[in-house]
Amino acid sequence: MDVLEAVKGRRSIRAFKNQDVPAEIVEGLIDAARWAPSAGNIQPWEFIIVRKPRIKRRLVEAALGQMFIEEAPVVIVVCANEERSSQGYGARGKTLYCIQDTAAATQNIHLTAYSLGLGTCWVGAFREEEARETLKIPYGIRPVAVIPVGYPAEAPPPRSRRPISQTVHYETF
Ligand SMILES: Cc1cc2nc3c(=O)[nH]c(=O)nc-3n(C[C@H](O)[C@H](O)[C@H](O)COP(=O)(O)O)c2cc1C
Repeated sequence: MDVLEAVKGRRSIRAFKNQDVPAEIVEGLIDAARWAPSAGNIQPWEFIIVRKPRIKRRLVEAALGQMFIEEAPVVIVVCANEERSSQGYGARGKTLYCIQDTAAATQNIHLTAYSLGLGTCWVGAFREEEARETLKIPYGIRPVAVIPVGYPAEAPPPRSRRPISQTVHYETF
């Protein structure tokens, strides 16, 4: 699929078919994620793949009751390894680069999933400590995005975007 087609065609999907996503496909999504750019090529990402209903249910609770997370056969939790980034770049690595790097990896997952006919949603609204406890994530690793992955059971229309004229500044702000 053409990159621009994926960029413009992807939608947040919040309803999923009762159809499994094979492990090889999930591995393909992770492979795409790890080709994201990262500051100093530090690659401060960690991925947790969740399939167990019990754990998905606890993620729904951590994510303020967003039930569609549980509906997806697979949930990928993208984590930022703050330790790795801070070893390379100190406070800027910890507070900025590792978030940027994992965001780029997350977007790779969304676009690749879309190109394979899968639906995903970037879920950022969750209680971090609850997610950490549920997934046994050590301190120094920060869960940053929860991504339910499945075959879409909805085809939402595009959400609007701010016009280019309002967002671009030439030469100075
Ligand atoms: C950082 C971030 C956090 C988000 N958190 C949530 C969330 O918790 N729940 C949700 O349903 N969508 C969430 N979204 C998805 C946005 O609502 C969605 O991307 C936006 O409305 C544009 O729609 P589109 O993705 O279909 O283009 C999040 C997106 C981003 C980038």
